[in-house]
Amino acid sequence: DGINVIEVTEDISLSGHLCSQESLNIATNFQFQDSDILLVTFPKSGTIWTQYILNLIFNKEKFQNQNSIPTISLNPWLEHINFSESLAKGEVSRSHFITTHLPAKFLVSNLKNSKVRVVYVARNPKDVLVSYYHFHNFVKFLPDIGSFDNFFDQFLEGKVVYGSWFNHIKGWLGVQHELNFFVITYEELSQKPHQSIQSLANFLGKKLEPEDVETILHYCSFSFMSQNNPVKINPIFQPFFDHSKGQFFRKGIIENWKEYLSPEQNIRFNKVYQAEMGELTFKFPWS
Ligand code: PPS
Repeated sequence: DGINVIEVTEDISLSGHLCSQESLNIATNFQFQDSDILLVTFPKSGTIWTQYILNLIFNKEKFQNQNSIPTISLNPWLEHINFSESLAKGEVSRSHFITTHLPAKFLVSNLKNSKVRVVYVARNPKDVLVSYYHFHNFVKFLPDIGSFDNFFDQFLEGKVVYGSWFNHIKGWLGVQHELNFFVITYEELSQKPHQSIQSLANFLGKKLEPEDVETILHYCSFSFMSQNNPVKINPIFQPFFDHSKGQFFRKGIIENWKEYLSPEQNIRFNKVYQAEMGELTFKFPWS
């Protein structure tokens, strides 16, 4: 049925449809170039949104008057099978925008010796959980996760594809001082869009005029992106989405978790959050 999950380490599983042990090895040994920009996220944290923003910061002309922009081909996922295969076949030229959901431990040794700019996007994990739950419902190659309550437990235990959200963020923030690293949150992008775009551009060494920021905000808005659905036109995913069961561009809002977590689940989540994250000094908009 095409549904398989591969356990690549004790604590990390990946989709066997998108990744293999070999594609993971290629990712781990990937020779970065100093001009590369690596977008790092835990799934459902605003990856596609930020892919768009990065492309817009560098090439907004390409977006003008177009209604479908296949950014996934411009920001390939490092660990996906199709990335290494199409590079090896010479089908795509090597992009300097690369995306990954992998935890830091797989990539850090190669990144440390480079000037690669790493953009880490974090999102309130309760909203990540809700978004990930819906994603499993309409993506046919992900395992059947049962009820929301069941998925809630798996997420807190880190037993979902790509592992524990807590370990992901702690792992990357733990090595930030050894890398050329920038953190931004989904919440900042939503609530302070102008400032967020400017600070991202600043990190990337690009100067934007106020009107550039307006153009970027138009093309990366939820309404524009959902109407000109970049995911829909990506051939890798398309046959595996059951659009009668959900949409990639679902809500695009913050604090949607309040409609899903019961009061008891919220208390349990907060306890785990405190135990896992209590020692981090980094201040997130949601905490
Ligand atoms: S994936 O599959 O891991 O790449 O998914 P990812 O892109 O990280 O996350 C999908 C969620 O991001 C929302 N999204 C947006 N929000 C605001 N503005 C824009 N432009 C935007 N584009 C995508 C998308 O709706 C998913 O969140 P939910 O909460 O499910 O709506």
